[in-house]
Amino acid sequence: MICVAIFAVVAAVIAYSIWKFRAPPDDESDGPPIHGHTGLEITWTAIPTALVVAIAIVSAIVLAKNGDAGSNPLHVDVTAQQFAWSFSYPGHANLTSGDLRLPLGRKVELKLRSLDVIHSFWVPEFGQKQDTVPGLTTKLVITPDRVGTYPVICTELCGLGHAVMRTSAIVMPAAAFEAWVNKQGKALAGPAGQAGKTVFVNNGCNSCHTLKAAGATAKIGPDLDKLPAEAKGAGKPLDAFVHESIVNPNAYVAPGFPKNVMPQTFSQLPKSQLDALVRYLVSSSRSGR
Ligand code: CUA
Repeated sequence: MICVAIFAVVAAVIAYSIWKFRAPPDDESDGPPIHGHTGLEITWTAIPTALVVAIAIVSAIVLAKNGDAGSNPLHVDVTAQQFAWSFSYPGHANLTSGDLRLPLGRKVELKLRSLDVIHSFWVPEFGQKQDTVPGLTTKLVITPDRVGTYPVICTELCGLGHAVMRTSAIVMPAAAFEAWVNKQGKALAGPAGQAGKTVFVNNGCNSCHTLKAAGATAKIGPDLDKLPAEAKGAGKPLDAFVHESIVNPNAYVAPGFPKNVMPQTFSQLPKSQLDALVRYLVSSSRSGR
């Protein structure tokens, strides 16, 4: 609105001046010497200054309000790393997930960290972007108000895998979110196999690996049913090998697979979940089920 008004005034004055002060074709004389106009200059400095200051004040108020998480937000820790996102819920026994699941209508405070370079968290439908900066914790407050599945995109060029650094934000009705949290919590506290499988699926291991026990058939990463053979190839005991391959995937890279593809974010898994995952992989690859 303000821009349109200013543009209209400026364009009108220019058009008027071109028409009013144009020189006749045979006029070769110099124009009159003019030394500015103090009153005019003060006016055209003062008005924009007042406008910009007013906009700045309004923006500061809106931004502060926008960043206010209220007294009872859902806390989610977001970890970014080349080239994956992971989410954990400190209010829910550090439940971890490769998707960002959120309940409808509740304020959410995202605390974002990066383990390597600068990334930027962006869900276009959430209307805001926030950088993740190594060594800093940045913050973003959102209140999802529409159920649905939205893309989570990295919008800061962060390396070769930048374009594929994506996952989903899933906004669920509050009751469905609670049910999901409870189900995950129960599974994680349940029998070892169930806990391990939950960690495996929640963190998206199944989208890259094959593991019969989890019904996973993806082929981007090594076949996890062959872990015992891989451990032998690496010359390490199976459980130590599995643990190392999760927290430090570049320590040993299976022949035929490139380095730096498996995210290193899993070193952030809470210890109990990491242990459950290791036990699960060891036992299901051993039994070959
Ligand atoms: Cu991470 Cu681009």
